[in-house]
This record gives sequence, C-alpha cells and structure tokens, in this order.
Amino acid sequence: MTEIPAPLLDLCNEQIVHELHASHLYLSMAAYLNERGLYGCAEFMREQSEEEREHAMKFYDHLVDRDARVDIGALADTPSEWDSVQGVFREAYQHEQTVTDQIERIYDQAEEEGDRPLANMLDWFVDEQVEEERTFRRILGLFKFIDDDPAGLLEIDERLAERGEA
Ligand SMILES: [Fe+2]
Ligand SMILES: [Fe+2]
Repeated sequence: MTEIPAPLLDLCNEQIVHELHASHLYLSMAAYLNERGLYGCAEFMREQSEEEREHAMKFYDHLVDRDARVDIGALADTPSEWDSVQGVFREAYQHEQTVTDQIERIYDQAEEEGDRPLANMLDWFVDEQVEEERTFRRILGLFKFIDDDPAGLLEIDERLAERGEA
C-alpha cells in the first residue's frame, strides 16, 4: 500500500483535532442544556459528543493501520455559554456544515493523490455528514414552529429524549 502523502496526512491529523473539538463542543452544549433542565436535549448532545469521538478514532485508526504518523495538536477553546437553546442547535448545525466542507476537502485531495484506501474510508464520512446535517436541520425546523413557547420546548425535549431523530 502506498504511503499517505504529507499534505494529505496533515489534513487527516487536523481532522482528528476537528472531530475531538466537535466532541468537546457538544459535551459543553450538553452541560448547558442540562443546567436548563432540558434533559432530553442534553442526552442527545451527550450522545453526539460520543459519536464525534468515534469519528476522531476512525481517522486515528486509519493512520495507525497504515503506519502513518499521528500528530494531535491543541484543541481550540470551547464555548460554554449560548444566547438560547435554539442558539445551541443553530451553532451545532453550522458546525456540521463546516465539518462537511472539511471532509469534502480531504476527499478531493485523496482523489487527486489517488489514495484509494483513504477515499474509501471517507465514503462513510460523506454519508454520515448528510445524516448529521439532516438531523440538526430538522431539530432547528422544530424551533421555528414553537417560537419560544415553553410548552413547545418541552415537547422538543421529549422528542430528543427518545433519541435523536426529530
Ligand atoms: Fe464528526
Ligand atoms: Fe458530527
């Protein structure tokens, strides 16, 4: 199997950090939601946080399996305050869109370099990002219905308590 070219390896290492950052961000969001008594939303975010760690590990395992160097840099600061519960989900949705761009960039580079094993691994991420964006977009859609009505917020909380898919 061919070695991963240096610029591509850098992108993969950066992506490990991006996924770990997402994991931190969602955990911080879970804590914020918990504090506000929205236990269903909090549990949903906590599970998202765990999934993001698994994403980081997929990249990690891929590099280790190919005997490539894992180099984990510093994590960006993680916010702990938001202006509203809706604001939390808005930021999460925007974050997923950013990650989709990152994955597509790595994919383009992998194809350019003819790195089939990496492109193959990234297929899973391409599908996953479609799902992630859909999940958060649907939750945000619910917030538009309720228009800051507390009863509506509790209903969203109950839906998310049943795990995730809005
Ligand atoms: Fe992810
Ligand atoms: Fe994600």
